[in-house]
Amino acid sequence: MRLIRAKNYDDMSLKAANIIAAQVSLNPKSVLGLATGSTPIGTYRHLVEWYQKGELDFGKAVSINLDEYCGLSGEHPQSYRRFMRENLFDHINIPADRSFLPDGTQTDSVLECARYDRIIEEHNGIDLQLLGIGRNAHIGFNEPDSCFACGTHQVILTESTIAANTRFFEDEAQVPRKAYSMGMQAIMQAKRVLLIASGADKAEAIRNSFFGPVTPQVPASILQLHRDVIVIADEAALADCP
Ligand code: F6R
Repeated sequence: MRLIRAKNYDDMSLKAANIIAAQVSLNPKSVLGLATGSTPIGTYRHLVEWYQKGELDFGKAVSINLDEYCGLSGEHPQSYRRFMRENLFDHINIPADRSFLPDGTQTDSVLECARYDRIIEEHNGIDLQLLGIGRNAHIGFNEPDSCFACGTHQVILTESTIAANTRFFEDEAQVPRKAYSMGMQAIMQAKRVLLIASGADKAEAIRNSFFGPVTPQVPASILQLHRDVIVIADEAALADCP
């Protein structure tokens, strides 16, 4: 693991965007694994800015997102598809038919998970996987105690994740209880993983994930076994680390 210390959120975002930009510049056909949530917004802002200045071209890239809420269509304001469009896809030239997210409206979870795993496989896996981290150290929606070896699956969200995500909805009752999530398998098979974290509420997750034992109770801890992981965390997120 390479740990890059950032001063704050802006510094983390700039450093992460530089790594993604380098990936796309070196291999324009890169398969990017992307995340939603508050953490990558600043990173996406830099990528949009550099694309708009003509410094980056996503025309040959592919993106495969980590997750999507079950029950929400891609048009729903809180769907992850909509988040990706608003924060990235609508402002860059990544082809719409090569930007993949699970289909939250598909009620047959077995079918949808198999379809998503096939997409990942057909693209020969992910070149660079961007990850945020939950307060309970989840990555994607791989919650504590979920299987380390699984593929895309339907997840029942934990109370802590529902509580953390309530801020994006009118009230807690509106937060979907299930999601489709890429599994640990695809994340671990990514050629490079870039995990970003900012703020004191991530300090415990960062300490447990990278300075504690590898256990399914701390999902991100499995990344200690990946051979090319970059963690960019700001001072607040690193406050509890040795
Ligand atoms: C989002 C995702 C989640 C988030 C995590 C952190 O696609 O996979 O694992 O990365 O919940 O969310 P934020 O960045 O909002 O703190």
